[in-house]
Amino acid sequence: MHIAVNLVPGTLARELSLFEGGPVTYVVVDILRASTVICTALSHGAESVIPVGDIEAARVLLGRTDMRNAMLCGERGGRKLDGFDLGNSPAEYTTEKVGGRTLIFASTNGSVALTAAPRDATVLVGGLVNVSALAHSIVQHDQPVLIACAGKENGFSLEDAVGAGAIISKLWETDPELELVNDGARAAQVLWDQYKSDPVMPLWQSQHGIYLIEIGFGADLSVCGAIDSVPIVPILRDGRIVAEPPISPFPQN
Ligand code: MLT
Repeated sequence: MHIAVNLVPGTLARELSLFEGGPVTYVVVDILRASTVICTALSHGAESVIPVGDIEAARVLLGRTDMRNAMLCGERGGRKLDGFDLGNSPAEYTTEKVGGRTLIFASTNGSVALTAAPRDATVLVGGLVNVSALAHSIVQHDQPVLIACAGKENGFSLEDAVGAGAIISKLWETDPELELVNDGARAAQVLWDQYKSDPVMPLWQSQHGIYLIEIGFGADLSVCGAIDSVPIVPILRDGRIVAEPPISPFPQN
């Protein structure tokens, strides 16, 4: 299996071209916090999550007659928006709040990376909280893989690169033939080796982690860094992210 990592959003087209237009599994990684929120919401019974590129699109979508069951979720600057039901802290996404609901989700970077997914790709959501289940699904899909780090406002995010490295390392356990086809993948692997003994550490050291602490969301960092705590695989189908039923049982540790 071939794998590349796009470390910053602006180079997506270049890294995708490595696969020459063939089928890919496109994995969006936004460790702090969109990936973690999506996994948490689906594991707590949300029917689906609809990623949108901006706030206006979210409000327009909510107005549609088939969206009566929907809630507005997401953030700007890490904080819940006026008129939105939920922000972007995994702790908000309880069964009571999201069970059976459709979530229209607009975040600064994560939902944008999801809406940038290539047509026809298999689109998955990856975090540290679901890394083993995700790796299992990637192997089952058996396609070249592009991990798209959501980053921060078009720039590099340490925690997303480390998360990409965690996925590579997990894939290696089942696929010794795994081939890293770009420098992003090589860099992510080195970063994961550096941090694997304490996966929460890069979240504390990252610019976005420091910012979240400053605005009162420090508790989210250990939630987002808890390896395999939410073992589900979010997959995009017809514009909606749902929990992928396992293609074959996830191996238990
Ligand atoms: C994003 O999508 O930019 C993030 O999830 C931001 C956040 O931590 O709220």
